[in-house]
Amino acid sequence: MKAVQIKPDIYWVGAIDWAIRDFHGYVTPNGTTYNNYLILDEQVTLLDTVKRDFSEVTIANIKNLVDPSRIRNIVINHIENDHATGIGDIMHLAPDASIYITDMGKKGLERFFDTSKWDIRVVKTGDTLSIGKKTLFFLETPMIHWPDSMMTYVKEDKLLVSQDGFGQHYASAARFDDEFITCYSAAELEDSVRDYYANILMPFGTLIKNKIAEIQKSGLEIDMIAPDHGIIWRKDPSKIVNMYLDMANGKADLRVVIIYDTMWHSTEEMTVPIMQGIKDEGVDVKVIKLRANPISYAVKEFWKARGCIIGSPTLNNTLFPTVAAFLSYLKGLRPKNRMAAAFGSYGWGGGAVKDIYEEIRKMGIETVEPGVQVVYKPSGEDRKKCYEFGREFANRVKAYHAKFE
Ligand SMILES: Cc1cc2nc3c(=O)[nH]c(=O)nc-3n(C[C@H](O)[C@H](O)[C@H](O)COP(=O)(O)O)c2cc1C
Ligand SMILES: [Fe+2]
Ligand SMILES: [Fe+2]
Repeated sequence: MKAVQIKPDIYWVGAIDWAIRDFHGYVTPNGTTYNNYLILDEQVTLLDTVKRDFSEVTIANIKNLVDPSRIRNIVINHIENDHATGIGDIMHLAPDASIYITDMGKKGLERFFDTSKWDIRVVKTGDTLSIGKKTLFFLETPMIHWPDSMMTYVKEDKLLVSQDGFGQHYASAARFDDEFITCYSAAELEDSVRDYYANILMPFGTLIKNKIAEIQKSGLEIDMIAPDHGIIWRKDPSKIVNMYLDMANGKADLRVVIIYDTMWHSTEEMTVPIMQGIKDEGVDVKVIKLRANPISYAVKEFWKARGCIIGSPTLNNTLFPTVAAFLSYLKGLRPKNRMAAAFGSYGWGGGAVKDIYEEIRKMGIETVEPGVQVVYKPSGEDRKKCYEFGREFANRVKAYHAKFE
């Protein structure tokens, strides 16, 4: 897609990756975009590059606007491969450009490239760069998404280039929030924001809250937020900021998600009465079999719902591997403000349900114990137990959810 003007003399020059479905293990059913921005001021300035596979695309977009050899400044807000691996190709065309980057960013960049001939200038929060009519202001945002991350604010345009923050993995021809909502829907946009936050930013809720408070206190006026993935927030940038604050403060839907796997279907059969019990208490419920779904989808649905019931058969005294993998991934994401329980079928000694509880207790989320277990295939009596367990869990989730309303 050709360059798109987003502000006077500022252009999106990025690339749309319609085909990617595996983004470092995170399944992206809608693809993604790598956004970067070119400012045509007295000093031509590029904010971020793209994933190396798409260097030609961004270079063609830049060439349609200006000779790339005229690029004087390149800002690298984050060194992760999807944004910074294209820097080598850009430096080839603009070898005298100066690179503006955080100290951590510089150290990381040196692991990927021979930077000995590059003019690298380390910046920190509060540093500014005048490029002619426009002034850039740098703001470090450690861990949103990596320790090196920062954002760049263009003062005269009230534009915040927010890097991974406020992004979404969604390939579309729409470049702006209002365009996307017209072509698709606000609900689809919100779902992709929650998916991205769940899989990328869930551990950093407190940092996100503090950083937003710092920006609001500093009095920076923002009328557009341009992330490095997905659409640009021009119609209503406060919407995405408020969504982030809500998520960081524990917002979830009143829903229970049952996430399980099974070998011979007994654990799977248990999901039916559990689901019915939850439903009969008036709580929405969703059932996700791990072997049939990407783990990143399960995590998105976990994050959207207030409650989660995790099921596993016992295999060699412990968890079924996909359930272990889900719990391992979830543990790293440090979930908060959620309630969970466990269930499963076993043949003799059992072990899976105990192991699920051990893992979820370590996460520090609320647990409802002891869950429900059956031997081999659930009997009629077992199904009743499962149903009652579903009802009990739904009621506990309702009471817990009320604390957040
Ligand atoms: C390879 C294998 C290993 C198993 N290991 C154990 C075990 O260590 N302890 C146990 O209680 N049951 C064990 N079982 C029995 C299963 O937990 C039991 O068949 C259960 O009903 C399977 O639930 P599912 O139908 O949801 O897969 C094992 C079954 C298989 C196939
Ligand atoms: Fe990143
Ligand atoms: Fe990224």
